[in-house]
Amino acid sequence: TPLTIAIDGPSGSGKSTVARAVATRLGLGYLDTGAMYRALTWSCLERGVDLTDRAAVAQAARDLPLAMGTDPAAPSVTVDGTDVGAAIRTTAVSSAVSAVATNLEVRPVLQRLQRQLIEDVAARAGGVVAEGRDITTVVAPDARVRVLLTASEEARLRRRSAELHGSADAAAVEATRDQVVRRDRDDSTVSAFTRAADGVALVDTSELGLEESIAAVLDVVAQ
Ligand code: CDP
Repeated sequence: TPLTIAIDGPSGSGKSTVARAVATRLGLGYLDTGAMYRALTWSCLERGVDLTDRAAVAQAARDLPLAMGTDPAAPSVTVDGTDVGAAIRTTAVSSAVSAVATNLEVRPVLQRLQRQLIEDVAARAGGVVAEGRDITTVVAPDARVRVLLTASEEARLRRRSAELHGSADAAAVEATRDQVVRRDRDDSTVSAFTRAADGVALVDTSELGLEESIAAVLDVVAQ
């Protein structure tokens, strides 16, 4: 049977980088579920869908012509044939995504799509690493390996700041703080990732470098 590895964690926990690296090393497919919420958000902003209109956003989710590229060496996201890989990482999308992700009519639509993708990719590639906020608990609670990556707020802000501003000096960290802390707080109304659910391995990356974080997850896989 294909190997499914579910990895959840908050912003700056290292989840995306670690998940991709683990998929590459084990020769598995890779699914970034956050990119799906981002792509839906981008599409709604693009089409002028009112993000406070729950039913309209849920309908946009059902109609979204989304394609996920699941090669960990070159993951991609396309909407209606357009590569939106860069467009979904803008501040505009990052600021709006929680409003979409906390819409309780939207989540089952994307969760269903995610389960389907996980099944298809796992069958094709022999396994899949799927990462997000609710993969270990809701999307794939039966995954053979389930990991929650955490890190202290300070460590997460440092990493995000380096990613977004190319620097982790005091000013850059402050510029990042508002955005990240607010998004975590908004997200926490629908997904809790401060403690691991039953059977989920907790990996704290606060004091770990990238290689050490990857090794820690590969250790859990080997158990
Ligand atoms: O940029 P970051 O790694 O923090 O987040 P992401 O993985 O790109 O996810 C972006 C947003 O999508 C999160 O802030 C959540 O609002 C939402 N999300 C979710 O609700 N459930 C998931 N399984 C994945 C992401």
